[in-house]
Amino acid sequence: MIEAVNITKDFDGIKVLDNISFKIEYGESVGIIGRSGCGKTTLAKIICRLIDPTGGKVLYRGEDTRRLKRRDLRKFREKVQIVFQDPLASLDPKIIIRDTLLEPLIIHKAFLRKSYMRQVRALVKKVGLDYNMLDRFPHQLSGGERQRVNIARALATQPKLLICDEPVSSLDLPVQAHILKLLARLRREENLALLFISHDPFVIKAISDRVIKL
Ligand SMILES: Nc1ncnc2c1ncn2[C@@H]1O[C@H](COP(=O)(O)OP(=O)(O)OP(=O)(O)O)[C@@H](O)[C@H]1O
Ligand SMILES: [Mg+2]
Repeated sequence: MIEAVNITKDFDGIKVLDNISFKIEYGESVGIIGRSGCGKTTLAKIICRLIDPTGGKVLYRGEDTRRLKRRDLRKFREKVQIVFQDPLASLDPKIIIRDTLLEPLIIHKAFLRKSYMRQVRALVKKVGLDYNMLDRFPHQLSGGERQRVNIARALATQPKLLICDEPVSSLDLPVQAHILKLLARLRREENLALLFISHDPFVIKAISDRVIKL
């Protein structure tokens, strides 16, 4: 589905990524492990086209993602989603959860307008949250609940690949286990491929079919 080909990235002449290549097939779970500062987040952002590599390319279904235009780019954004490390910073403090989950549905017009609220409720259920949380602001949720909201928002466009950039590293151990279980279940139920980034070998081992070391 997605392929990184000889990716390099320099910041101000300093090499952060050096010739990284790998493939992810539909439904596969691939782990990326490496110490802090080795370029994991940079690689995640290159894969989902938030930043450009200095060299190399990313192919999505065989097409160079930098060449995608309008319709194909929108499709790519729907199908490749990312969840970041800090669940609070990823949410707008002034927006209730319902509107956070409605936003991607409205932007991507993936469903009929009259079914939006049904979709929101389905997303909330899918990630194991309570409907009464829809009216809350991010600061009124726990860290684990916030990360579930981030995952629900990422799922709104029915992605095929979910990039998870240290999604549990800010949570304590029992909550980490719950979120990992949720991701494993989503992978099974939605045939979702995962690119799972962590510096923790135990977390990586629990969720990945195969591991790339940076
Ligand atoms: N926009 C930027 N401009 C300049 N340097 C950057 C930029 N983004 C990242 N870097 C540098 O690139 C290196 C890799 O950063 P990155 O965030 O990818 O590391 P990481 O592996 O995700 O680390 P961590 O495990 O701490 O999250 C770091 O040295 C960082 O300072
Ligand atoms: Mg990082």
